[in-house]
Amino acid sequence: MSEFDPNPPRRNFYGRRHGKTLRQSQKGYLSEDLGTLRPRGITVQDNPERAPVEPRTIFGDDRPVWLEVGFGGGEHMVHMAARYPEVGVIGCEPFINGVAMLLGKIRAAGVENVSVHPGDARDLMDVFPENSVDKAFLNYPDPWPKARHHRRRFVTPEHLIPLARVMKPGAEFRVASDIPDYIRQTREEVPPAGFDLIHDSAEPWDDWLSTRYEQKALREGRVPHYVTFRRKG
Ligand SMILES: C[S@@+](CC[C@H](N)C(=O)[O-])C[C@H]1O[C@@H](n2cnc3c(N)ncnc32)[C@H](O)[C@@H]1O
Repeated sequence: MSEFDPNPPRRNFYGRRHGKTLRQSQKGYLSEDLGTLRPRGITVQDNPERAPVEPRTIFGDDRPVWLEVGFGGGEHMVHMAARYPEVGVIGCEPFINGVAMLLGKIRAAGVENVSVHPGDARDLMDVFPENSVDKAFLNYPDPWPKARHHRRRFVTPEHLIPLARVMKPGAEFRVASDIPDYIRQTREEVPPAGFDLIHDSAEPWDDWLSTRYEQKALREGRVPHYVTFRRKG
């Protein structure tokens, strides 16, 4: 598994990297598919100098590049890749069971315009040049409900400033969550990082596909909320 352990040791990651034992088929997806689907030069091991990696080169042409942070089981990422074949969708997820689920869905859908970093979004943001990402998605980020853990949330300057740097002026950043206090912090912290709030709604985007976490939230009676920002400039 060390081959799939891309997180730089200097970085705190508070989530889970491993869950229940992987099925044999999932082990197969990881060993057979991840090698070709993962972008090169992203991990510290691969690129200790942190030389820039232009995300467009991952797809070998000039297509727009979208970034999904924490794709979970990958349903939204595969849906977007299938719906927008002219785009390249890069997803990242440190939870290896989620990566294995995504790889199964990629096989089933037959999408080819995807790239999978089995690690932290910050690894990608470290090496992508500024103005290189055309859209970003943060779906149901880890809520960190305790007040003393709110600084671990993705919507903090540690993540938002690097995200703003790599996003193109005018690029859209979408956040979905079912946690009112997460939405509060999103509204407060995203604009100062360099974004304008352009939409704030209980209605999902037209091209939204409900994720596993959203389904769980709905079953448990929580209410989803969808916020859209645009990178200034
Ligand atoms: C609550 S889950 C939601 C998963 C999925 N987006 C969904 O809606 O079903 C949040 C995911 O974000 C991932 N995550 C947390 N911090 C991350 C980071 N810094 N970079 C990439 N993914 C991260 C976690 O591993 C977890 O799988």
